[in-house]
Amino acid sequence: MRLLPAPSSQSLRLLFLFIFVMGVAPYPALTAGCPDRCVCDDQLVVQCAGQELTLFPNDLPLATRQLIISNNNIGELPALQLNYLSDLVYLDVSNNTLIEISESTFGNLRKLAYLDLSFNTLTQIEDRTFGPLSSLVMLRLTDNLGLNEIHPDAFSENMALQVLDVSRNNLTTLNISSLIALPSLRSLGLSGNPWRCDCETEDLCLWVQIEGFKFQDEGQTVCQGPPEVSGQRLAEVGMQLRADCHQGLGYWDYLFFIAIGFVIFSAGTVSAWVMGVLMVLYERYNKRKGEDMDSDDEEERHMGGGMMGGGHQGNGDLNKAGMQV
Ligand SMILES: *[C@@H]1O[C@H](CO)[C@@H](O)[C@H](O)[C@H]1NC(C)=O
Ligand SMILES: *[C@@H]1O[C@H](CO)[C@@H](O)[C@H](O)[C@H]1NC(C)=O
Ligand SMILES: *[C@@H]1O[C@H](CO)[C@@H](O)[C@H](O)[C@H]1NC(C)=O
Repeated sequence: MRLLPAPSSQSLRLLFLFIFVMGVAPYPALTAGCPDRCVCDDQLVVQCAGQELTLFPNDLPLATRQLIISNNNIGELPALQLNYLSDLVYLDVSNNTLIEISESTFGNLRKLAYLDLSFNTLTQIEDRTFGPLSSLVMLRLTDNLGLNEIHPDAFSENMALQVLDVSRNNLTTLNISSLIALPSLRSLGLSGNPWRCDCETEDLCLWVQIEGFKFQDEGQTVCQGPPEVSGQRLAEVGMQLRADCHQGLGYWDYLFFIAIGFVIFSAGTVSAWVMGVLMVLYERYNKRKGEDMDSDDEEERHMGGGMMGGGHQGNGDLNKAGMQV
């Protein structure tokens, strides 16, 4: 006899959720129903926009592929209920009152391609918030007026991400170290944020300058501070920042320049020395050659004179000897 697969803890939780949330009697929405104030069609689209909902609709068809709950007053995305919708491809939660999104919120939405969190009241995006969304292609995260912090690795696992819009938030800086590594990213909206164009945003500004085509509304992506660059486009200050921020050279730079200077200096000294030595040697050689010729002459003269003198002397000696004899 074949054993039935043990029910996973997830399906158990699912069962309990249905029993406790929807009452003991099976609710019609479990199979083919539709949440209150929502419209569901047979394409698995659930449309609940502008219904003054304050809670996430809790009896959604499990096979829902598109869920539109925009223009409501929903303050929280409950991870448990959301993650049963494992076929969800499209989720629009724009214009609600979401305050935070946790790491587990999107834990199971591996097919989600479109996510809209615009017009909410988020203040920060943490590490790996969107990590499980491996199919995410477009993320709209605009108009969260208090949003002033996005973790450097918030999008680092969204390898499919093509369009990211963080326009009109309260961002002063954005660490792009993981963004520039996303292979598919082709459009990034940054406009309408109070960017602070100092050395901390240098990389961002340079990126906008170099790959301007990627940036939506690049013309309205401007620095709000510091005062000397206020109102200038990020792309205009990129190169300037690069120059300014690397003006104060680091220890290694100094060491490098000292080393280079020393090499040039010593090369110059050595070559001057070698030249000097060569010239001295050459001069000496020339001199010696001249001296040798001179001394040859002298020797000859000496020898001639000697002989002559000798003769003389000899004669004299002879004379003397002759006189003596
Ligand atoms: C947000 O939703 C409200 C209704 O809840 C609507 O009146 C308002 O126009 C919407 N705002 C935007 C920007 O869509
Ligand atoms: C934006 O952030 C600044 C601090 O960087 C804060 O003082 C300001 O209140 C924020 N704006 C909003 C609308 O929350
Ligand atoms: C950006 O984030 C990465 C990874 O967290 C970090 O190593 C790097 O120093 C950060 N860059 C800046 C300019 O803060």
